[in-house]
Amino acid sequence: MRMYDIITKKRNGEELTREEIQFFINGYTDGSIPDYQAAALLMAVYFKGMSKRETAELTMAMVNSGETVDLSKIAGVKVDKHSTGGVGDKISLIVIPLAASLGIPVAKMSGRGLGHTGGTIDKLESIPGFRTELTREEFIGNVNKYKMAIAGQSGNLVPADKKLYALRDVTATVDSIPLIASSIMSKKIASGAECIVLDVKAGSGAFMKSVEEAAELAGTMVEIGKSLNRKTVAVVTDMSQPLGHEVGNSNEIIEAIDVLKGKGSEDERQVALTIASYMAVLGGAFEEFEKAHSALEEVIRSGKAIDNLKLLIQIQGGDPDVVDNTEKLPKAKYHIEVRSKKSGYVDSIDAESIGISAMLLGAGRKTKEDKIDFSAGISMKKKVGDKVAVGDILCVLHTNLGNTAEAEKIALEAYGIGSTEKKIVKYIYEVIQ
Ligand code: URA
Repeated sequence: MRMYDIITKKRNGEELTREEIQFFINGYTDGSIPDYQAAALLMAVYFKGMSKRETAELTMAMVNSGETVDLSKIAGVKVDKHSTGGVGDKISLIVIPLAASLGIPVAKMSGRGLGHTGGTIDKLESIPGFRTELTREEFIGNVNKYKMAIAGQSGNLVPADKKLYALRDVTATVDSIPLIASSIMSKKIASGAECIVLDVKAGSGAFMKSVEEAAELAGTMVEIGKSLNRKTVAVVTDMSQPLGHEVGNSNEIIEAIDVLKGKGSEDERQVALTIASYMAVLGGAFEEFEKAHSALEEVIRSGKAIDNLKLLIQIQGGDPDVVDNTEKLPKAKYHIEVRSKKSGYVDSIDAESIGISAMLLGAGRKTKEDKIDFSAGISMKKKVGDKVAVGDILCVLHTNLGNTAEAEKIALEAYGIGSTEKKIVKYIYEVIQ
């Protein structure tokens, strides 16, 4: 078999066989297929797409490129949740303690942030002492005993995705539905999940800019799940502006705490309750979504949800006191107010730009090697639909850096101010089961 022929076939819009897909994934993972040939194939896939069968086979070839996690020692139906990535997305921080408080075993593997999107692992590490590197035994033991654990992805889980993602990142081939779907689903399957709830983001801060594209990605992932015997539900949610009011790391922890205490932003509350309700249904705790939803509302009202977050922090080595004394979390030295130069109504906020601005302030990484400043970030004082006058604070930038001119400019330009009030706002567009 020759890589040249596989590239030609896909370039001409033909379907690849399982053997051809495996040849590509195995050869790229072991280094016998060079970057330039892999990049050519990725670009051909970008333009010509893949059938459902090809996408499922690509997913399985990626799963088999490395280790897989055996969660069979955990009692009950294991549920995982994954987001396609966004700005201000702290939903995992909320749903893990929520779903676990209904007795659902949540075995969560999460990633780090890159570029304009944040990562749950980085956010949690802003809590003093919190450990995200757990041994297999500790991870399994915690899920069995406390119904929850969260860890960074282990070194050799889906190595094909690590190499391919880095290549896609520099060859403009990230936003391809079969490539995103196989990347996400391979990691979920390799990490042992039986049931998967996907939060597929749509809008300016997401890979999929329109709801239609996001729904197509959602449908593709649900199909992959079905073909591999994993119960999968995908919820298409809004990322046309940052989620909630905080973008960063320690400030996002504070906002997640607020939601678990029954406060917080309505968009986050709705998205988190929806995702956690589907986790409860797939995990078998409830037959009906509405019943799961009511039970979760009660879990928040009763204080059980926030107690469970304290427990999660404690069992992973962190200081649970941060929940009631958030000043123990890292704080930045400088707080720069970005003020409106126009009056009217906020009619858009480019979420990707806000993510880039936060990254420039130190909250994210330009390259994988960059170190994060957990205290850096942005507080969104105005969101879509809000009225503004000239001089009003749109957002506040938190940083320890001296020069923030570029971050300020990007944050200001992210805001679109119009003359009529925009009545939104849909937080949840579609559910695909
Ligand atoms: N998240 C992933 O893990 N992979 C992608 O391709 C896109 C988002």
